[in-house]
Amino acid sequence: MRRPTSFKLSCLLLAAAVMVLPASKAVAQNSQLAATPPMGWNSWNHFAGKVTEADVRAAADAMVASGMRDAGYIYVNIDDTWEGQRDAAGNIQPNSKFPDMKGLADYVHSKGLKLGIYSSPGPKTCAGYPGSYGHEQQDADTYAKWGIDYLKYDLCSYHGIMKREAPGDPQKQWKMMQAAYDKMHEALLHTHRPIVYSMCQYGLDAVWSWGPSVRGNLWRTTGDIKDNYARMSMIGFSQAGLGRYAGPGHWNDPDMLEVGNGHMTPDEYRTHMSLWAMLAAPLLAGNDLSKMDDTTKSILLNRDVIAVDQDRMGRQGNRAQATGPFEIWTRRLSDGAWAIALFNRSRYAYPMTADFQKLGLAPSLHARDLWSHRDLGVLHNSFTATVPSHGVVMLRVQP
Ligand code: GAL
Repeated sequence: MRRPTSFKLSCLLLAAAVMVLPASKAVAQNSQLAATPPMGWNSWNHFAGKVTEADVRAAADAMVASGMRDAGYIYVNIDDTWEGQRDAAGNIQPNSKFPDMKGLADYVHSKGLKLGIYSSPGPKTCAGYPGSYGHEQQDADTYAKWGIDYLKYDLCSYHGIMKREAPGDPQKQWKMMQAAYDKMHEALLHTHRPIVYSMCQYGLDAVWSWGPSVRGNLWRTTGDIKDNYARMSMIGFSQAGLGRYAGPGHWNDPDMLEVGNGHMTPDEYRTHMSLWAMLAAPLLAGNDLSKMDDTTKSILLNRDVIAVDQDRMGRQGNRAQATGPFEIWTRRLSDGAWAIALFNRSRYAYPMTADFQKLGLAPSLHARDLWSHRDLGVLHNSFTATVPSHGVVMLRVQP
């Protein structure tokens, strides 16, 4: 029997809807959570395995007192080593460093902040504490009961399980990994509490290409950052080309900030902050917020640079030009504006020029210098500045 065209069309549309609905519905749910890249603090880079409830409370206090909360830093995230044993019913308990998780969440919430926690799809976390393997829904329910708002889920010992169960079969291993991340997201959804889902598996299997399908709000794209220029810049500058995978609700995560941890120069930390903003990266401070000097504050609290990171269009920037160690990156912003960052990766200060035509920009641009906070008026055709060694000059321009 010949079906009318409209009938065939309806069938096609229905089939298409069935195919795309689960993913798009989930992405829509998630977009409401991390509409711009998450901002906050995480305990690992400074405190690592020593973190205690008192440190987390002090971080929350400092986030308010320093003005960070009002600048957008909202998440106070406990990383690895909070976990205790499971009770007879299998419920995870915090260890003695965190005697009252619900009380801590209430305290953090009372400051207008949100609390994050950490676990692994494996039986052990990377620091050897209990992970969520076999207890995913139970753990998600516990987090919701405590009032947790953000979960960092770190592959750790699940890697060993993948290798053991699918030896020599990377395809099968990747499928297992995706299923493990999907399982926790399902568990989080079932709690009916909005919990930002941060995937941490170091970029394995090009996570940016499937992270949204397991509904990650952010996914680590690299191994761990360290507090030195070589590692930070290696990670940051390697992010070129990943922009098409990121957007509102789902972000590439080149790891947490090291600003203020003491082993980079102020110029290097300004590069770190600028590059992360160009990348629309999550801004999770990783220093001891209760002991910040003025330089650290001026970097983490640079509202001009934060505004680039948090631009509502959520378009990640990219490398536009590179001549040896001299790189110019651009990022399209809402309202027709652009951010331009001139990075000098060399060991000597050097004059660098942004040629607007070569960058595909309008010939006359109104510009603001985002580190000196000076209005530069209207620039014609190009902009030249001496950029310090390992440093940056960053502009916001608008036709
Ligand atoms: C690593 C992770 C770090 C930190 C650490 C804790 O795998 O990349 O960011 O979470 O585990 O053990």
